[in-house]
Parts: sequence; C-alpha cells; structure tokens
Amino acid sequence: PQPQAPRRHQLRMAVGTVSQDEMKKIVGYKAVDDYVKSDMLVGLGTGSTAAFAVERIGEKLKSGELSNIVGIPTSERTKEQALSLNIPLVTLDDRYDIDVAIDGADEVDPNLDLVKGRGGALLREKLVEECAKEFVVIVDETKLQKGLGVDGAMPVEVNKFCWKFVMDRIKGLPSIKAVKGCRAELRMQDGDKPYETDNQNYIVDLYFDEPLADAKQAASELLGVTGVVEHGLFLNMATVCLVGKPDGTVDAI
Ligand code: 5RP
Repeated sequence: PQPQAPRRHQLRMAVGTVSQDEMKKIVGYKAVDDYVKSDMLVGLGTGSTAAFAVERIGEKLKSGELSNIVGIPTSERTKEQALSLNIPLVTLDDRYDIDVAIDGADEVDPNLDLVKGRGGALLREKLVEECAKEFVVIVDETKLQKGLGVDGAMPVEVNKFCWKFVMDRIKGLPSIKAVKGCRAELRMQDGDKPYETDNQNYIVDLYFDEPLADAKQAASELLGVTGVVEHGLFLNMATVCLVGKPDGTVDAI
C-alpha cells in the first residue's frame, strides 16, 4: 500500500451505526448507481473511497447491469484494480471526452472546493477530473470542513531536481507563509526514502494551524513556482459531493 499523509483527526473507530469504511462503500456504490450509465467513459479515482466505486463498476459490468464502459484510471494502483476487475481502460492520450469522473477527497469545504492528494495521485486526478463533464466527489462526513488546509497535509507535487530550493520558495509564498503555524515536509516512504509519485516526482506536504485564508490566491502562487508540478487544491471543479453519513444514508451537496 502507498503511504498516506496523516490526517490530524483520522477517524478509526466505527461511528454511529456504520463504520467509516462502510460509509465509504455506501457512497462509492451510490455514485456509480446514480451517475454511471452504459457506454460512458469514466474517470476512475484513487484512494480507499474511490476503490469502492471501481469495485461497483466491475461488479455491474460482470452482472451485465452496465455494458461498454471504458475507464481512465488516475493512478497505477487504480489501473491495477480496474484491470483485475476486467474494466476496459484507455489513457488521456487516447481519449479525453470523459462523461463522469468519480473520486474521493481529503477535505471538502462548503463551496465544494477540495484538498486532494494525500494518496499521492493529485496530478493525474486533476488532469482526468478537469476533462470530465461531471466530477462526482465521494466522501464520508469526516471530510467536510469549514475551510481548506486545516485537517492534515495540503500536498504539492514537485520536481525532484532541487526540491529543497522549491520547498523553501513554497514556504515563502505570501499566501502560504501568512497562515498560522505553516510548515512544510518532504513526504517520506519507509522512514528514510522520499515518497515518489507515479510521475516520479516528490511531494511536499504543507501543514497549517488554521485554514488557508485565500485558497485561490494560494493555488495561483503555487503554480508560479518553477519546480511545482501541481498542487492539491481542486477549486471550482466538483459538480456534486456525495457524503456518506454514520446512519448509512448519503447526502448530496
Ligand atoms: C489520492 C486522493 C484521494 O482521493 C484522497 O486522498 C482521499 O482518499 P481516501 O478516500 O482514501 O480517504 O486524493 O491522491
């Protein structure tokens, strides 16, 4: 399994009547049942919630409830899962007329702006989800936040070359350094080795003690740093967010 940047308030125990894993499954299955129809090109997200949506597509293809689905995976992990379920795949180089993309998120604010990428797949996720006519976000209710950047890492994918210099420049950006408690860490794997994305880049995880005051400004400043490949702020992209609740129901926001 790929390392996941830690969430500060990770919910590990069952909550209410269903566990967090069950909420993820219910919401992943519902997204497929409500938004995926036969003959669609579907963006397949990455992470433990998105994996349930991929599982449901595989199940419905097998049972014949869906036919002629083609998927575009957002990571090597998702590609492996989809292939194991016999979901036909293409890449963005073959097609980018994606009907719907379904993916999880690390944080969702009231405007449906997101933090993504704690699972390391942010670049491919953003490319696929920007191409989709509809982007359906699937989360359990622990991911809902009043503001972005306060419940764990805000990932930034950076080129390996000169990463320390790039990390220092990121820390010095006006919209980043202004946030209380701002700190930056290179994501590690197995203790002492930098984590590498599917694109052979590194990830700098930003942590804050309060939400980003201006996520749009932060997004623009981050992309202005040479060596930043992409950041985990997914702004103005989601069509709808399906939220799994502890009582086993799903809200659409
Ligand atoms: C991976 C992602 C994931 O969608 C995000 O980390 C949520 O994952 P999970 O559903 O496992 O909590 O952005 O890069």
